[in-house]
Amino acid sequence: MAQLEQAATADPILRLALPEHLSNPYPAYAELRETDPVLWHEPLGSWVLTRHADCLAVLTDSARFASDWRRAGEEIPAPLLSVQTLDPPEHTAIRHLLLDGFRAQDRDALHGRLDRHVKELLAELAERDSFDLVGELAEPLALRFVTDFLGVPAPDLDWFVPMSRTVVDGMDAGLWPEKHEPAVAARAELAAYAGGWLADPPGHGLIGYVAAHASTSGVDPAVLRNSLRAVLHAGYESASRLLGNAAAALLTTPGAPAAFRAAGPATAVDELVRFDAPVQADARVCVTDTALGGVTIKAGDPVTLLLGAANHDPRRFAHPTDLRLDRAPNPHLGFGRGAHACLGASMAIRLAGSVLGTLATDHPGARAVAEPDHRRNLTLRGLDRFEVTLRPATGEEVRT
Ligand code: HEM
Repeated sequence: MAQLEQAATADPILRLALPEHLSNPYPAYAELRETDPVLWHEPLGSWVLTRHADCLAVLTDSARFASDWRRAGEEIPAPLLSVQTLDPPEHTAIRHLLLDGFRAQDRDALHGRLDRHVKELLAELAERDSFDLVGELAEPLALRFVTDFLGVPAPDLDWFVPMSRTVVDGMDAGLWPEKHEPAVAARAELAAYAGGWLADPPGHGLIGYVAAHASTSGVDPAVLRNSLRAVLHAGYESASRLLGNAAAALLTTPGAPAAFRAAGPATAVDELVRFDAPVQADARVCVTDTALGGVTIKAGDPVTLLLGAANHDPRRFAHPTDLRLDRAPNPHLGFGRGAHACLGASMAIRLAGSVLGTLATDHPGARAVAEPDHRRNLTLRGLDRFEVTLRPATGEEVRT
């Protein structure tokens, strides 16, 4: 173990998994960004990019940097072909079908149900001395919100959460290959579950919409099924982790709840995404030799984009390590950019705005009772536990 830790300490990427960097990876990112902004990392077999300009250049150039690894001669197993792994022009039909489906939803009704549920859940949790904000608020709420949007009942949390975590662990398989096989099995289980939706679709929600328009869309049925599974999984994992990370920043930064109220939910949540984004890393494969940051990336080379590092690049953001909830404009890369930019960004901002806004306004006593405990994931950053109380602080009890 000591040997492992020693090896990790010497490796600029592996060391990010050590406890001190897991709780705050930003100083280690800053070092990389200054000394080795375009780094070849042998164990990953990938270039690692940490500057905002370089990450942005790759995300917005799908002609040279592919999400579809078949363009670099790699195989993609059929169950993995989805909106996330195709590139234009094949990507366009599924992206537009989903986009039209997202736009067709009754957002006011969805948000109304969300706001009511958030208020009820927080009022219940306020009765307790303390609770785990991750397991008792962020995860159930994100799952309910995303499945309400899809138009299907939420799966059982005890079945879904461990399976979903196994898929997320697999995203770090470049560093820990043993995570790969369990993740493939978990993905297959999730795909079988999502497959049932289109066989017997609801008359409403995103699934109702795409089921009604699938035959005229030109989208391959397997790609559609895999993409709906991706919406559930990407939506649930990114949104629940955003809620945990953002609540931790809000409740451990002095004055942040008041600053949140002053800035308004949309601007404040955008900054919370920049400050501690759930999606810390993204990947592409180079398909045409390209000069970047003084080196030539060769066709066939994988490229890892550390979006979390780009979001703290002082070349793009003034005082990047400060949480400035009124920061605007805020050109962070937390929702990606370009052809694969997040389809759920406005929903995620609305969800986090509802939860954090209710905390900041209705629960002035909200505060951490323990340090947030981070999960050992490098691609998707999130918390295992975050014990919080909503009870008024002693001083407030005296005042009221
Ligand atoms: C309601 C919740 C969400 C839904 C339904 C959702 C859905 C999606 C979908 C379908 C894509 C794939 C788009 C494509 O490949 O064309 C995507 C991409 C992405 N999402 Fe989300 N998302 C949600 C929340 C979030 C959150 C909270 C974050 C982070 C703050 C996030 C970050 C990203 C990023 C970085 C990408 C780009 C991936 C890439 O470039 O390969 N998403 N999202």
